[in-house]
Amino acid sequence: MLRYLLCILLTAVVIGLAAGGVHLWRVAQKNAKEMAPYAGAPVGITKNLGRVLVVYYSLSGHTKDIAERIASKARADIYEIKTKEKLNTTPWYYLTLRRQLKTENYPGLAGALPDFSKYDTVFVGAPVWWYTIATPVLSFLRQADFGGKKVVPFSTQGSNYGTFFEDFASKAKNAKIGKGASFNNLPDKYSAQVDNKIAIWLNSL
Ligand SMILES: Cc1cc2nc3c(=O)[nH]c(=O)nc-3n(C[C@H](O)[C@H](O)[C@H](O)COP(=O)(O)O)c2cc1C
Repeated sequence: MLRYLLCILLTAVVIGLAAGGVHLWRVAQKNAKEMAPYAGAPVGITKNLGRVLVVYYSLSGHTKDIAERIASKARADIYEIKTKEKLNTTPWYYLTLRRQLKTENYPGLAGALPDFSKYDTVFVGAPVWWYTIATPVLSFLRQADFGGKKVVPFSTQGSNYGTFFEDFASKAKNAKIGKGASFNNLPDKYSAQVDNKIAIWLNSL
């Protein structure tokens, strides 16, 4: 009986690993195809977006990286959304964060909101959590009133941003929503292409 159970368990593990491997391979292929048009010489910034603020939240650094690249290209001020409590203190924090989304019990934020009146364009960046906006940014959107400003969302994710942009448009108050952009987590070899993707996007706004 024990041997039978072990056999089933082993088969399940092998199938799981194979499925994971196929998924990662597919994502890598998709990323290579999506980033190919951004290869080549560095693209300069031709668009003047006025006074720009980049707001972002980042748990593990990916959104921070994209936010800093945008801020550097757009000569923008930058504002990091910070939570009062650390969110990834347990091994099961993925499930805790899912519960926050389901119950709409978003985390408290540290510090005052930025003064949007000083800016013409506000970028807001968030990681994708469970196919939507990370809960600290949902907290931020609950509090923020953009006062008619142009607001441009951006996401970072493993591979699937789900309903991030629809959700953002429905939750950002008094915002003229600009064309958003999404950024998959990519290996370092794509760094120059990510810069070009950001530059082309900024020029198109
Ligand atoms: C709780 C949680 C849920 C996630 N859900 C998704 C998802 O639905 N789709 C996806 O492509 N990536 C998902 N990810 C991966 C993150 O979106 C991705 O790693 C993101 O770039 C992390 O940003 P950060 O490093 O700025 O925190 C999830 C990560 C966490 C922690």
